[in-house]
Amino acid sequence: MPTTHFTTWLVTGANRGIGLEIVTQLVASSNNLVIAACRTPEKATALNDLKKSARGVIHIIKIDVSNFDSIRASTKALQAVCGETGLNYLINNAGIIAQDTVSTLDPEHLLELFKTNTAGPALVSQVCLPFLEKGSTKKILHISSTAGSIGSLSALESPRGLFTSYAMSKAALNMLAYKQKLKNPDFTIITLCPGWVKTDMGGEEGLLEPHESVAGILKVITSATVVESGKYLRYNGEEIPW
Ligand SMILES: NC(=O)c1ccc[n+]([C@@H]2O[C@H](COP(=O)([O-])OP(=O)(O)OC[C@H]3O[C@@H](n4cnc5c(N)ncnc54)[C@H](OP(=O)(O)O)[C@@H]3O)[C@@H](O)[C@H]2O)c1
Repeated sequence: MPTTHFTTWLVTGANRGIGLEIVTQLVASSNNLVIAACRTPEKATALNDLKKSARGVIHIIKIDVSNFDSIRASTKALQAVCGETGLNYLINNAGIIAQDTVSTLDPEHLLELFKTNTAGPALVSQVCLPFLEKGSTKKILHISSTAGSIGSLSALESPRGLFTSYAMSKAALNMLAYKQKLKNPDFTIITLCPGWVKTDMGGEEGLLEPHESVAGILKVITSATVVESGKYLRYNGEEIPW
């Protein structure tokens, strides 16, 4: 399929929540080709339904970001879809959360969170790098959280104290983003908090509907340039203290 005129995107954790909404908004435009990565494509009902109504193009591929073999194996699917044209945007969105405190955190569980929220995005980025290098636009967006902001902790300590492993994994993800920015000066790399969003993770009390958060997220990443690379931003473009 000729894909030269498309803007190409890879979104992880596209099965539900913010990831699914990102894909939904992207494929409303016929200019976008989206590689929607999820753990079990054969069970990704919403994504498969979206494929039928999309104006843009969706390729659903398997990536379990906590399984490093699965990430490495995705090279073949990426090669088939964007080996020629390259990839323009990588959105590392897949993530998990745990309710724990410094007193209750289980070190094995902490490692699980680091695997999914930090090591997975690092390896997905490595695998995507050759494809991003081929693209005319080279952008990586990490979906982080304000929970990973040490500078916001005093204001947030009460609720965020319950998410210690999660906060540690997102703070490390933020460092990955900054390291990537230093290593790749021609890339635009942003680490971003989507806000408190009504998803399975955010719960019903969330302050934002997924479509509101994602409209902001896409505005931030499409308008960001290399000048903004390395920034830690909210979905509305505000800077977050490290
Ligand atoms: N919602 C919020 O208020 C909020 C706030 C701050 C930051 N965030 C961040 O935003 C991102 C998306 O969160 P969300 O609210 O959409 O969460 P969600 O509703 O729980 O959805 C999480 C998504 O990540 C996928 N996922 C989890 N582990 C995965 C793995 N090992 N491999 C591949 N996919 C995996 C899930 O896939 P399955 O369907 O297969 O489980 C699902 O598609 C996360 O990084 C989260 O930390 C969310």
